[in-house]
Amino acid sequence: MELARSLRDSGTLPRHVAVIMDGNGRWAKLRHLPRIAGHERGAEAVRELVKGCRELGIGYLTIFAFSSENWKRPSAEIGDLMTLLRVFLEREIAALDEAEVCVHVIGDRSRLGHDIVDLVESAEKRTGSNEALTLTVALDYGSRSEIVAAARRLAEDVHTGRLSPDDITEQAFGRCLDTAGLPDPDLMIRTSGEQRLSNFLLWQAAYTELVFVPTLWPDFKREHLFQAIDEYQQRERRYGGTGG
Ligand code: FPP
Repeated sequence: MELARSLRDSGTLPRHVAVIMDGNGRWAKLRHLPRIAGHERGAEAVRELVKGCRELGIGYLTIFAFSSENWKRPSAEIGDLMTLLRVFLEREIAALDEAEVCVHVIGDRSRLGHDIVDLVESAEKRTGSNEALTLTVALDYGSRSEIVAAARRLAEDVHTGRLSPDDITEQAFGRCLDTAGLPDPDLMIRTSGEQRLSNFLLWQAAYTELVFVPTLWPDFKREHLFQAIDEYQQRERRYGGTGG
């Protein structure tokens, strides 16, 4: 594919892409279908996204699959989303493993069903040594509670004398976050035209380039990924400096 080749040749691919997959409900509503139909098509779009990242050679992809605020949804929809996740973890894992994808889950596992936690753990174990792409799935994830948990951990270490307050640096803080070991995202894509972060990777996105696309998530194809990366490549990243 022409655009994919030119993106690769340009040499400025994002190392880490994060995606807020939004618009499943609206996609279904437009078609007079139940919301779960939108989520099902959304899961297919995840497959397409992973393929696009592999095609380009992106090293890290992080997707927002279920936020800590999503528990506020009707229980039937939560059940449907959990079923989809189960199916995804059961059925896609062989293909992901084959494609050298390392699957990793961040977020609070304590409220997830035991069977889902077991599936997550076995997916992480099975794919743990894969190196082509790290796919991080944010599940029951919320950035503010992640930051508070990191602050609590550091406070406890200071309290017990393991750490001095002077040791609390940005690097030390980052090591206490769920994303420890991952580079910060270079590019964050949100679909469906909404333009906000919704409690996703707030600390990590300090200098991330944000690209908002009008496409509803179930319609997202790898071409949309390529277009977002094309836009990313036009941006000048200055990190607070002058860029000169
Ligand atoms: C937002 O659409 C999407 C979600 C809350 C969940 C994302 C889940 C998937 C894409 C499917 C399952 C994921 C995996 C990894 C198998 P919305 O329901 O908020 O849409 P709306 O804003 O149009 O109502």
